Amino acid sequence: MSERWLYLRGGETALLIDLRPSVDAMPRVIHFGADLGDAPDFEAIVSAAPHMLWGARLDVPCPPCVLPGLESGYFGSPAIGNCHWRFEGTVGSILRFKGNGTTLEIEYQMSPHGVLAMRVRAQGVVPTSSFAMPLSGGMYDVLSFGGDWAREFSPQRQMLGSGRLAFESRRGRPGHDRFPGLVVGQADFSDDHGAVFAFSLGWSGSHHVSVERLREGEVVVQAGELDAVGESYESPWTYACFSSRGLNGVMQTHHSFLRAQIIPAGVAAKARPVHLNTWEAIYFDHDEATLRTLADRAACVGVERFVLDDGWFKGRAHDRAGLGDWTVDTKKYPNGLTPLITHVRGLGMEFGLWVEPEMVNPDSDLARAHPDWIRREQASPLLLQRHQAVLDLGNAAVCAHVYEVLHALLAGHDISYLKWDMNRDLIGDGHGAYVRALYALIDRLRVAHPKVEIETCASGGGRCDWEMLRRAERVWVSDSNDALDRFAIQRHASLFLPLEISGAHVGPASCHITGRRLSLDLRANVALFGHMGLELDLRALSESDIERLSAHIEAYKRFRPLLHSGRLWRIALDDDHGALCVSSQDGREALALVVRTGSAALGRAAQLRFPGLHREVLYKLSAVKPISPSVGQSLSPSVMSGAQKMSGQVLTGRGLEVYLPRPESSLLLHLEAC
Ligand code: GLA
Repeated sequence: MSERWLYLRGGETALLIDLRPSVDAMPRVIHFGADLGDAPDFEAIVSAAPHMLWGARLDVPCPPCVLPGLESGYFGSPAIGNCHWRFEGTVGSILRFKGNGTTLEIEYQMSPHGVLAMRVRAQGVVPTSSFAMPLSGGMYDVLSFGGDWAREFSPQRQMLGSGRLAFESRRGRPGHDRFPGLVVGQADFSDDHGAVFAFSLGWSGSHHVSVERLREGEVVVQAGELDAVGESYESPWTYACFSSRGLNGVMQTHHSFLRAQIIPAGVAAKARPVHLNTWEAIYFDHDEATLRTLADRAACVGVERFVLDDGWFKGRAHDRAGLGDWTVDTKKYPNGLTPLITHVRGLGMEFGLWVEPEMVNPDSDLARAHPDWIRREQASPLLLQRHQAVLDLGNAAVCAHVYEVLHALLAGHDISYLKWDMNRDLIGDGHGAYVRALYALIDRLRVAHPKVEIETCASGGGRCDWEMLRRAERVWVSDSNDALDRFAIQRHASLFLPLEISGAHVGPASCHITGRRLSLDLRANVALFGHMGLELDLRALSESDIERLSAHIEAYKRFRPLLHSGRLWRIALDDDHGALCVSSQDGREALALVVRTGSAALGRAAQLRFPGLHREVLYKLSAVKPISPSVGQSLSPSVMSGAQKMSGQVLTGRGLEVYLPRPESSLLLHLEAC
C-alpha cells in the first residue's frame, strides 16, 4: 500500500484503486478482475491507458469512481448524492470522505479465496447503493436468478445493451423471485469458460442489484438495501469475485469463502445429520402415537435428526390460527413435547422443532392480547398472507417477548435444531429496522444456545442471502421436493450456497406440489447432493422401498465428507442430461450425479468428462448402489462391479459414455485413486 494506490489480492482476484488519480479527483477503480501479481507496476497500468479523443465529452472525462456520485460529472446512475465530497485519505483499506455536513467511509476486505467484501458507513447521508464496481472488457452478459415459490433460482440470462438492468425486491425479504446476487461476464461464458464476475448482497430485506452499461462501454454493478434510512448508516456487506474459469470458478471461490468466513463453524465441525421432517408426512395432523411410529421408522432407516414441523403449538389445527402462541398444544400433546423428545433421543436421534417467530395469526392469544404488536403499513385493512400478519420487530417489547418464548422453549426442552420459517412478504417500505432487529434477535438466541442449529426457511428459499447464512446452519432451498425441479433449483442455488447447507429431501413418490411421480432412486440421488433429509410418510413405504431408502442413506453417509468439503462442478452434457460432480480438494476422489432430465434422444449416451482429477493418476470407477433397474441393465459389468480402472487423462479428456435409457432416471459414479 502507498499513498497513491490501494492494491488488494486474493485467489484469482485483484482490486487496484488509484486513490489520487489527479488533484481533487475521487479515488477510482483502475482494475477489478484477474490477479496482477506481487508487485505490478501501477504507474505503467495507468500511463498505458489511451487518451480517448472523442466528441461530446467533458474536457476532463469523469469515469466512475469508487462510489459513483461522489464526483461531479458522472452521467451514470449515482450511488450517492452530491454533497461536495472531498477524499480525506485511508485507514487500512477504509477510504474516508467528507462532504457538507456528512462523512462517508468505504471499506474493502479481500479474502484469501478472492472474494472482495465491501460496505459503507455514512453520517448525515444515506447512499442509494452501498456498493459499486466498474467492470471493463465487454462484460455484457448478465445471469440473474428469478423464479417463484417452489421454483427458486430460475436462471435468466440476458445481454446488456445500452442502459441499465435493475433487479429489485420490495418484499422485506430477498424473495423467491430475486436472490440478491448475479453474474456478469463476457458474452460466451459457460460453466467452464470465460471471464465472469459474481456479486452477492448480504441483506435479508428489500434490495436492489443493478448493472448499467455506460456510453463509454464500461459496466457498473451496484447493489444495496432499498429505502435505507438513518442519520448514521452502516450498509450491508456486498461480495464480489472474479474467475477466468466461468461459473465453476466463481462457484468454487464462493464455497471456499463461505466455508471459511460466513457459514457457522459448526457446519464443518459436525457431519450433516440425515433429517426426517414431518411436514409432508402428517401436515397439521399431529398425534403422539403416529409421531413415535414415524420416529421408530426414521431411526431404522438411518435418520439422525427428527424435525417436528408446523402443527405442534396451541390452536394450530390449520394455517389460519395459532402463530404467535409458542406453547405446546395440550390437546395433541397432553404431557407436552418432552415424552416425544425423550422417545426420539432414546432412538439416538436429535430433536428439531419448527417455529415461525416473526409472525402472528389474528386468531391467536398473542394478537388478541397485543393487537398493537402487529406491523401495520396502512390504517386498514390489515393485509394477510397465508392468513398471517407480521410482528413489529422494530418495537423492542415485541423482540423481548419473542426472545423469551423461544428461550423458554429451548431452555425447557432437549432441542438441538430450529427450523426458523418466515412465510409472508412484508409490505410497504422501510424494512431496515425490522431486518436489523431480526439479526439481533437471532444473534442473541445463538449466544444463549450456542449448540442449537438453525435452518433458514421462507416458504422454501425466500431468505437465504449471505447475511442470513452467518446465522444458519442450513437453508431450506425450496418447498418443492420434485426431484427434477429440485435438481435444477439446487444446480443454480449452489452457485451461492455450498451443498452442506442446502437442505434437500426425499419427498413422497408423487410430489405434493407438482403431482409428478418419480422413482425413489432419483429422489434419493438428488437429495444426496445436498444436506439430505426425508419428508415423506415412512409408514406408507413397502419393505423393499424401506430397504432401498436405507441403502441410499448409507450412501449419503459414506459420501458426505466428500460432498461437504470438496469442489463442486456443474457439467454441461446435452439437452437431455444434467450433471454435477464433486471432486476432493486433493483430486483423488470424485462423485458425479448424472440425471436424464429429458427424453429427446433416448438412444443416445452422454459423454461425461470428469473435472478436478489428476491426469497421471489411475482411478477406480464404480456405480453407486442402489441403481435403478433400467440404468443397471445397460451399465458395463466392470463399472457395475467396481472393477473398472481408468486414468485421469482419459476420464478428463475423453470422458466416459453414460447411458441412462429412461428419462427421469439417475446414476451416481464414484472415482477413487488406486
Ligand atoms: C413453509 C415451509 C414448509 C413447512 C410449512 C409449514 O411453507 O417452507 O417447509 O414448514 O411452512 O407450515
